Amino acid sequence: MKAIVCEKFAPIGELKLAEFDRPQIKDGHVLIEVGAASVNFPDALIVQGLYQNKPPLPFVPGHELCGIVREVGQGVTRFKVSDRVVATPGVGAFAEFALSHEDKVIAIPAHMSMIQGAAITLTYGTSLHALKNIARLQAGERLLVLGASGGVGLAAIELGKLMGATVIAAASTQDKLQVCESMGADVLINYETEDLKSRIKEATSSKGVDVVYDAVGGKFSEAALRSLAWRGRFLVVGFASGEIPKIALNLALLSERSLMGVFWGEWIRREPLAHLKQMDFIIEQVRLGHLNPKVNEVYALQDAVKAIEQLAMRKAIGKLVIQVNSTVQ
Ligand SMILES: NC(=O)c1ccc[n+]([C@@H]2O[C@H](COP(=O)([O-])OP(=O)(O)OC[C@H]3O[C@@H](n4cnc5c(N)ncnc54)[C@H](OP(=O)(O)O)[C@@H]3O)[C@@H](O)[C@H]2O)c1
Repeated sequence: MKAIVCEKFAPIGELKLAEFDRPQIKDGHVLIEVGAASVNFPDALIVQGLYQNKPPLPFVPGHELCGIVREVGQGVTRFKVSDRVVATPGVGAFAEFALSHEDKVIAIPAHMSMIQGAAITLTYGTSLHALKNIARLQAGERLLVLGASGGVGLAAIELGKLMGATVIAAASTQDKLQVCESMGADVLINYETEDLKSRIKEATSSKGVDVVYDAVGGKFSEAALRSLAWRGRFLVVGFASGEIPKIALNLALLSERSLMGVFWGEWIRREPLAHLKQMDFIIEQVRLGHLNPKVNEVYALQDAVKAIEQLAMRKAIGKLVIQVNSTVQ
């Protein structure tokens, strides 16, 4: 089969489109013919050996996909051949066929396209887990999203609005902020050209925000933490800036703020049934038009390396999707 292959941990540009062995079916797994896959930040890290887990080489990257079940392993109870599904196998999605454990596979309805399906699991899954299960965001609260035009950021804007919050979106360019506005953000802050803390103060009449959603890290985290109101919650989601901030803990003590870690991948491993229930909710909200995955660009499989580079270079807005096989519908 054709696949994007990582032969050694190296810069993204060294990934190759090549022939690779089709995965063999295993107990508890399904083999999926991939229609579309999407690019997520961990894909850019894992191929460089910078992610928390390092798969044995050579491997096919790609965390998230949408396709059709072609083989079912022993012990699988929820799927049969020909089911349309989304899956988050962690690796293997940028290929014509991918193997995934049944717990990481969700059936999708007929009206959902492969391109749309490829863009719903990791971003909405992470942001819903963070806002609902961890921060317990309430209607009427104020939510600040850093890196708001990225994959998980746009999902946090839409979910924040759906949960009844006022959403303040912070991003680095006007183009990115315009997209945040089109997805429902109430207040826009360009954190590269404006002072984040004073703009939050102004936007909240000095009250501060109740929840910070931080997938960026680096220089903006401390200003965001300092902008939290009494008993505000700070969600540590990721470090797309490449810098893990080191912050004085007195900032938590003052105003009884909480620092809350978010690790969606580990949560779905520990609570697979809760993950399935949450995905049912997300799929229903997409059907109702309350969530609209923002697929900004669609690439062919041979251009997947370019797509991963765009994301790593901070040039992506929303989701970048790889159409692996347009005949898989
Ligand atoms: N904790 C979890 O369970 C979990 C789950 C999924 C993802 N994540 C993490 O969340 C982060 C975002 O993932 P994503 O897929 O949404 O990525 P993304 O689409 O690339 O968005 C990341 C955003 O970060 C900002 N950014 C600031 N400095 C950057 C830099 N040097 N390079 C790239 N982006 C930079 C960019 O916005 P501006 O240009 O506007 O600053 C960009 O839109 C990643 O660190 C990822 O590993 C965590």
